[in-house]
Amino acid sequence: MEATDPISAAAALKRGGLVIMPTETVYGLAADARNTQAVMAVFEAKGRPSFNPLIVHVTGIEAARQVAQVDVRAKVLAQRFWPGPLTLVLPLANPNAVSHWVVAGLDTVAVRAPAHPLSRALLEEFGGPVVAPSANRSGRPSPTTFAAAMEETGPSAAAALDGGPCEVGLESTVLALLDKPRLLRPGAITRSQIEAVIGPLAEAEADAKRSPGRMARHYAPELPVRLNVESPEPGEAYLAFGPARHDRLFQLSETRNLPEAAANLFAHLRAADRSGARGIAVAPIPTDGLGEAINDRLKRAAGFVG
Ligand code: TXA
Ligand code: MG
Repeated sequence: MEATDPISAAAALKRGGLVIMPTETVYGLAADARNTQAVMAVFEAKGRPSFNPLIVHVTGIEAARQVAQVDVRAKVLAQRFWPGPLTLVLPLANPNAVSHWVVAGLDTVAVRAPAHPLSRALLEEFGGPVVAPSANRSGRPSPTTFAAAMEETGPSAAAALDGGPCEVGLESTVLALLDKPRLLRPGAITRSQIEAVIGPLAEAEADAKRSPGRMARHYAPELPVRLNVESPEPGEAYLAFGPARHDRLFQLSETRNLPEAAANLFAHLRAADRSGARGIAVAPIPTDGLGEAINDRLKRAAGFVG
């Protein structure tokens, strides 16, 4: 399929079609959030279990109010970080705000305003809420390039927008604002950036049930993944962080730059998976700042996290 423009892509959404949509984080598979058949087609295309709710994408706070109850914390966070890679889980505005498939029967909804110019143009042209899970098939690494998105779920899409490689490369931070604020998924907007605006976050562990998408094996390549490896074995692909020499070398960031490593992570996991190696070894990555999100995705790629 040829890449198209936001006007044709919005028309495809209005007809109930699916659209490959670039965002600043990862590529999404977009559909009209109010069209149950279109939303069901997204679950089908991804092979996604129906209990795992989708993120609703909007142009900004005013549009978010159509689907969610935006309290003062949500408002200040949105003012600070939208458009951008922060998703807020809030009470649903009303039971019919979006198809009940979107929220998997919950009375809460996840909303975010993406920053990529093509996703913004699509949302403005479409004029309503749009669901967009990452465009990978369920359980696989999220696509961060147009080619990877087309490979994963392109055949199910009626239209596709080519926004080039994603700038952030990791999915958005997911923050629940139901009672106490809780981090459900670390991402590009870091814990400390959020705490600087609304104060300390509560522990997320106790709230695992509220985060139905956080299954153990997720973002996973086919090959086995070993973490915190300083010296890879011969035959392994090596995702390095800092200067390194190895046969199958995939450099996350030679200068140990966390944003650069995040942007390269999923593309390198995909390439390493296909390199003919017998496994993937990954260098230790610091856990502060953006490192929290990178290590979260790596643990899932290795199948560790429950
Ligand atoms: O960066 C992103 O967020 C990308 C781009 C395309 O916007 N989208 C994305 O969507 O990562 P997805 O579906 O792959 O991840 C959504 C996450 C899942 O872990 C899901 O369980 C969680 O958000 N989620 C959605 N609605 C929720 C809700 N009502 N309560 C708790 N978690 C929710
Ligand atoms: Mg996903």
